Amino acid sequence: MQEPATTWLEREIREQPSCLGALIESFLQRSLGTASEGLRLERVAPHAWSRSERTGSLGEIRLLGCGTAFHAAELGAMMFEHIAGVPARAEMATSFDPRRTLLGPQDRVVALSQSGESSDTLRALRAVRELGCTTLALTSNGDSSLARGAHASLDTKAGRERAIPSTKGFTGLVLALYLLALDERRSQSGDEPQPSELAAIAEFPARVSQTLEACSEIGIDPAPFLGAQSAFFLGDAFELAIAREGALKLAETALLPSSSYPSAEIRHGPLALVCGTTPVILSACQRDRLEQHAQLACELASLDAPLLVITTHEASEAWPRACTVYCIPPAPAPLDALLAVVPLQLLALRVGRARGCDVDRPRNLSKSVRVE
Ligand code: AGP
Repeated sequence: MQEPATTWLEREIREQPSCLGALIESFLQRSLGTASEGLRLERVAPHAWSRSERTGSLGEIRLLGCGTAFHAAELGAMMFEHIAGVPARAEMATSFDPRRTLLGPQDRVVALSQSGESSDTLRALRAVRELGCTTLALTSNGDSSLARGAHASLDTKAGRERAIPSTKGFTGLVLALYLLALDERRSQSGDEPQPSELAAIAEFPARVSQTLEACSEIGIDPAPFLGAQSAFFLGDAFELAIAREGALKLAETALLPSSSYPSAEIRHGPLALVCGTTPVILSACQRDRLEQHAQLACELASLDAPLLVITTHEASEAWPRACTVYCIPPAPAPLDALLAVVPLQLLALRVGRARGCDVDRPRNLSKSVRVE
């Protein structure tokens, strides 16, 4: 039985199953009374944004966001490319420059912001509208400037976040992007989502609950982080954006300098910084990379680096004894990567508390950056 949450951050981490369930209920209908209790994905993309209402060449989808919203954008770009077959790219709204882009009326833009009020994202949205792009706002604040400023908007149902470190806002953005990518694939090629895809979506809130429970039962030991000067987060493919998000969460919540890389990239320089007081956190849910990840884990263990591995139940035996392994329930990509963020959110919360940080209000930060 979990203790009552004492901070907004912990409360919002725990709210994720119900928020994700609300989002799923908006778009996943169960056709009861038929031969099988079939699930059907209703239309996700607003008409004003969907490709099927548009003519002309297959333009690009650009995704814009800042901080955690940018990490969601990175996942979204990979989903639009790998699932829907549409060229897509994520870009930090803070560095978007309309004078140095090829975007035009044939392209679409998704602007991501859990608050819907980040001035950098609003500025980028205005710029791409002036370029003639069709725009979609993805936000958990349906009354926000972002939602009003785009051609169409989609509410992630994550609700208001009070803790400055974003958690339920992130998972809401990413799941909404997954639904959008499945919808986009349907409008591009007519391929309906597979029953297995729909079942995995329907089960996802329960998978998040299971992961929260599992991490609470194992307990997350902050000890390797208390004397650390820095930490490294590693991941590949969909899990690279998760590693980036984990690094940002630990940096802002526990004030511990953290960086993130594709897993093998650490050998090309950053490994020089790894020693017995440098925690390395590896997100390793993809079975087809298990051998490479286990090899890297052995190399890191030989440096006495404290190593935390996020992986699925099936792969839990593959790791050197020195590793702390957090197992998450199996789920098909990209949902496995999204599930892997939950232990990283709890890690940031636990280490932030152990280091005496204000986990809801990290110093120097504001919930919504509104600097003009
Ligand atoms: C998230 O933990 C950070 N506090 C920050 O990066 C945040 O994601 C960023 O400022 C964007 O905020 P938004 O989603 O409200 O636009």
